[in-house]
Amino acid sequence: MTRLSGKCALITGAARGIGLAFAQAYVDEGARVAIADIDLKRAEAAAAEIGDAAIAVHLDVTRQESIDAAVAETVERLGRIDILVNNAALFTAAPITEITREDYDRVFAVNVSGALFTLQAVAKHMIERGGGGRIINMASQAGRRGEPLVAVYCATKAAVISLTQSAALNLVQHGINVNAIAPGVVDGEHWDGVDAFFAKYEGKAPGQKKREVGAAVPYGRMGRAEDLTGMAVFLASPEAEYIVAQTYNVDGGQWMS
Ligand SMILES: NC(=O)c1ccc[n+]([C@@H]2O[C@H](COP(=O)([O-])OP(=O)(O)OC[C@H]3O[C@@H](n4cnc5c(N)ncnc54)[C@H](O)[C@@H]3O)[C@@H](O)[C@H]2O)c1
Repeated sequence: MTRLSGKCALITGAARGIGLAFAQAYVDEGARVAIADIDLKRAEAAAAEIGDAAIAVHLDVTRQESIDAAVAETVERLGRIDILVNNAALFTAAPITEITREDYDRVFAVNVSGALFTLQAVAKHMIERGGGGRIINMASQAGRRGEPLVAVYCATKAAVISLTQSAALNLVQHGINVNAIAPGVVDGEHWDGVDAFFAKYEGKAPGQKKREVGAAVPYGRMGRAEDLTGMAVFLASPEAEYIVAQTYNVDGGQWMS
């Protein structure tokens, strides 16, 4: 398939999980991809696995100089950036009375400031180059409602949905479409960490929370990273030209339930 033929994408947090699945899917559609991650070794292994169409780039989205350097390196090595996927994120959980400022700042720095200032740096490049572009932010069903132990992460993802709307309305004049994807529960290392938080705060056995959330999804199981690639390719493709400022649920029906 070649729906993204000739396109160059930068995907943050793509050394593993959903971002890595997106990188493979974009390459399968003809794009070249920068796998940008704070874990450079793992990004390099992922790029080597995908092949010549993928490069690894070091990126810490909490540091402006790292964002600027990663954008410059991607433009130098791939020639341009047509598509940005703001995917890097951290999860945290705690009862309201136990949330610390340190943890709040750490998670907001990656999930919200990191997404905004990466979007800003790439948008500047796209505007300067001309020809528009696509920006896809990773939100979550957690951004659409509160959860008793997940206030900080939920708030970061609500902010991502809001930033998607404002950035889209501002950047559409430059032919840059900004949209978001809201997954439900997607199995992988991220959810291993979530499961551990619930084991701690709800006294569950390891793996129990995963089984419970999977059984509660109307589709009948947790998502897999590959369940999200269709939407990620579509939003980056010419077919999505008229789609602006939207956040799409890809969650096996979880949000609707
Ligand atoms: N897995 C789920 O159930 C789920 C559900 C809803 C939304 N999401 C969202 O989808 C996206 C991907 O999730 P995932 O499950 O693949 O997560 P993951 O934890 O497996 O991967 C996150 C990646 O981000 C990288 N990263 C962390 N801090 C970084 C930083 N400062 N700079 C650059 N990279 C950094 C990590 O090294 C890692 O490779 C995230 O935005 C997440 O919030 C995931």
